[in-house]
Amino acid sequence: MTKTVCIGSDHAGFALKEVLTSYLSGLGYTVEDLGPAAATSCDYPVFAQKVCEKVLNDNIFGILVCGTGIGMSMAANRHEGIRAALCTNEFHARATRQHNNANVLCLGERVTGPGVAMELARIFIETPFEGGRHQRRIDLFDAK
Ligand code: RB5
Repeated sequence: MTKTVCIGSDHAGFALKEVLTSYLSGLGYTVEDLGPAAATSCDYPVFAQKVCEKVLNDNIFGILVCGTGIGMSMAANRHEGIRAALCTNEFHARATRQHNNANVLCLGERVTGPGVAMELARIFIETPFEGGRHQRRIDLFDAK
């Protein structure tokens, strides 16, 4: 993983997307903002798709924000190779990297305040995957 992350939202996650973009840029990350450019009403699967394609093509982390985080996580997890995790606390953010090798963090702006969200994003990005038995379990996701 590089120091580049990509981010997207819908209208209900727009304000938190802006906060996280600014925060992560301040930490030295290059943040590719895949939209939207304003908080006008839009459809979250469109931005989930943009972020997931970028995550898969560039092997970087993605962050998706909607009102609840649920719609984004549902949409993102339809993409093969995406392991999107809706996180509401630090244990979620750390454990989903260590155990699930999550590559997309989903957050709900109507659920998680900006201070907690910033911390969750930092923990998610900085926590390594533990591999081993966890890799075997992830491999079973796509077992036929
Ligand atoms: C938008 O009103 C809201 O439905 C969306 O942001 C998200 O929470 C859906 O899961």
